[in-house]
Amino acid sequence: MAWFQSILILTVGTTLCSSAILENVADLNRLQLKFDFIVVGGGTAGNVVANRLSENPNHSVLVLEAGGINADDLNIIVPFFAPRVMPHTPRDWNYTTTSQNGFDGRSVTYNSGFGLGGSSSVNYMAYTRGSREDYDRWAEVTGDDGWSWDNLVHYMEKNERFSPPSDHHDTTGQFNPDVHGFDGINTVSLEGFPTAIGSRIIATTEQLEEYPFNLDMNSGDQLGIGWLQATIKDGVRSSSATSYLAPEYLSRPNLHILLHARVARVLETTPGAFRSVEFVQDGSKKLFTLTAEKEVILSAGSIGTPNILLHSGIGNSSTLASLGIQPVHNLPSVGQNLSDHALAGLPFLVNSTDTFEAAGRNATLATEQLDRWSTTRTGPLVDTLTSHIGWFRIPDNSSIFEKFPDPAAGSNTAHYELIFSNGFLGPPPPTGNFLTITTGVVSPASRGSVTLASNDPLSHPLINPNYLDSELDLFVMREGLKSALRFAAAPAWHDYIISPVGVDGTSTDAEIDAYIRENATPIFHVSGTASMSPKGAAWGVVDPDLSVKGLTGLRIVDLSVAPFIPAAHTQAAAYIIGERASDLIKEDWSQQRVSSIFNVQEY
Ligand SMILES: Cc1cc2nc3c(=O)[nH]c(=O)nc-3n(C[C@H](O)[C@H](O)[C@H](O)COP(=O)(O)OP(=O)(O)OC[C@H]3O[C@@H](n4cnc5c(N)ncnc54)[C@H](O)[C@@H]3O)c2cc1C
Ligand SMILES: *[C@@H]1O[C@H](CO)[C@@H](O)[C@H](O)[C@H]1NC(C)=O
Ligand SMILES: *[C@@H]1O[C@H](CO)[C@@H](O)[C@H](O)[C@H]1NC(C)=O
Ligand SMILES: *[C@@H]1O[C@H](CO)[C@@H](O)[C@H](O)[C@H]1NC(C)=O
Ligand SMILES: *[C@@H]1O[C@H](CO)[C@@H](O)[C@H](O)[C@H]1NC(C)=O
Ligand SMILES: *[C@@H]1O[C@H](CO)[C@@H](O)[C@H](O)[C@H]1NC(C)=O
Ligand SMILES: *[C@@H]1O[C@H](CO)[C@@H](O)[C@H](O)[C@H]1NC(C)=O
Ligand SMILES: *[C@@H]1O[C@H](CO)[C@@H](O)[C@H](O)[C@H]1NC(C)=O
Repeated sequence: MAWFQSILILTVGTTLCSSAILENVADLNRLQLKFDFIVVGGGTAGNVVANRLSENPNHSVLVLEAGGINADDLNIIVPFFAPRVMPHTPRDWNYTTTSQNGFDGRSVTYNSGFGLGGSSSVNYMAYTRGSREDYDRWAEVTGDDGWSWDNLVHYMEKNERFSPPSDHHDTTGQFNPDVHGFDGINTVSLEGFPTAIGSRIIATTEQLEEYPFNLDMNSGDQLGIGWLQATIKDGVRSSSATSYLAPEYLSRPNLHILLHARVARVLETTPGAFRSVEFVQDGSKKLFTLTAEKEVILSAGSIGTPNILLHSGIGNSSTLASLGIQPVHNLPSVGQNLSDHALAGLPFLVNSTDTFEAAGRNATLATEQLDRWSTTRTGPLVDTLTSHIGWFRIPDNSSIFEKFPDPAAGSNTAHYELIFSNGFLGPPPPTGNFLTITTGVVSPASRGSVTLASNDPLSHPLINPNYLDSELDLFVMREGLKSALRFAAAPAWHDYIISPVGVDGTSTDAEIDAYIRENATPIFHVSGTASMSPKGAAWGVVDPDLSVKGLTGLRIVDLSVAPFIPAAHTQAAAYIIGERASDLIKEDWSQQRVSSIFNVQEY
């Protein structure tokens, strides 16, 4: 088919041609390179670091990525196909959580991107920074003002290349240009194919005081409903692989990437210094070791990073010893304090045929949509599954605050979000058309953990997000669902919504709770498992400059360092961390001698 060929030429062709991407450790050996920086994980934040450090031709950078290239996967490239990328595909780590009490004891599949771009290649592309207060809290908790909103705006703008939507419609009144970056690397845009529900959502903001319109939820003032911004470039997914590893960067002679390289451990090179990594390649039990001249940067994500640290003997020494792992450095916070968001969708039966179900049940229409996307990059497939999101707080006088402190970063930060989708999410029932309003608990109080099940570094860790463990989180989700029902009762929906499916205005709190426990899912925003804390603190894993506490040569740059999860979809935060970390690393090495990169490296 014509579309398939053009994709091969456009994307795979350009990427695979690059000599920077190596598939086999033998190729690396043949090049006989030395590396100043070894980045573990070519994911969202890791590729930012690889790009920014290799801006300096004196710095040689190697990325070790466990997965492969995924630029030839149509499900990754076409925004609307995002739900098809996961779970249990070659792009997925295939994790499962432990049994979740808050979910009635269910264990749930836990998606995480495997391959270049990491989770930015498999996510739903929503681009939301969170609130000003979210980052100001990071600054306060770490004692480093560099993590405050005002000081991070520069990095937000370095990440972002705000661009027109694929249909090039007039976006006046849909975002605030003053708060965006237009010269960054990662493309962000508004929806390119308006759906039937957009005008009704905006009308609701005019009809109900409770749901104000917010021109730009990425301004720092997030509360209210606005148009969603998404990492989509001309109708195609923009990931850290397509943006930060674009051909113009891969052509740098000082940037190399080794695929199918799964890091098992980091190793102590001299006392207190961890500059070596030990890895395996697909299908081989052989261990390879590489040593960085300057630093190893762990960017393996909030599950991969603590997993590697723990297997390396960096963690709670008594727990490690009981698993038969030689403790090397006692850091009990490794893997602890995991934070994630839980979601629950509420479908509404609607009086319309213009919903996702139309193509979902009609193969001819689905083919027409794909042809349209392939030839012109227009039509329904250019967007992700939502066009609008709203961010809200439960009232200050809510009874739950008699028992619990407010977990949000401040009074302008959301407790829950509402995500609006023009159809059923997941395989639709055989008949009916739908609107879905999904509620997410975005400032959760519950904390979980990543721990080890065994001393085999290639086995999966135990992932326990502890969803809805705190009564407060369940309260917030219940209020979120009630809010979705109030929203749907606005005049704007009277001739559109027929009825909710699951819970309705007559449901008791106990019935809503039962619905939540049965239907809630993760949103895969896992954070905080290698948290920043003030220099010298008795807890935490990294200092505010992201170097591992008490060690040299080892830094962590991914979402695991977030001391609190932002009230946001988390890819923007991962990119922001990557951008600031790159400057911190550059500053540290700017005064240092230049190493010669062409030396024989022995394995
Ligand atoms: C299905 C899904 C949907 C999502 N939807 C959204 C959304 O719409 N909007 C949003 O903002 N966020 C979304 N997220 C979350 C967001 O994508 C992540 O929070 C963010 O990308 C995390 O970035 P990271 O750099 O911390 O980790 P990742 O991007 O996951 O990078 C980690 C990388 O390390 C590699 N790795 C791991 N272990 C090893 C090892 N041992 N050796 C070598 N390499 C290793 C991985 O393969 C991966 O490439 C979603 C996530 C998922 C999974
Ligand atoms: C690279 O190293 C050379 C030689 O030491 C030096 O002159 C130059 O300024 C360095 N470049 C950068 C960007 O640091
Ligand atoms: C995840 O499961 C799929 C389907 O079984 C498989 O193809 C893929 O290789 C698995 N991922 C990993 C990282 O093993
Ligand atoms: C380390 O883990 C043990 C359980 O193995 C626990 O009792 C102890 O409190 C932990 N130490 C710290 C400092 O958290
Ligand atoms: C978890 O984070 C809090 C701060 O939010 C901190 O006080 C606590 O010590 C952390 N716990 C661990 C085990 O790191
Ligand atoms: C399926 O879609 C095609 C193409 O748009 C259309 O012609 C046809 O009428 C649709 N079939 C049904 C049953 O709606
Ligand atoms: C909270 O305050 C509002 C407005 O003053 C009031 O209508 C509501 O009943 C109060 N709720 C509780 C739980 O006290
Ligand atoms: C459905 O919409 C049509 C107009 O498109 C209207 O005539 C009809 O009354 C609506 N039905 C319901 C149940 O709202």
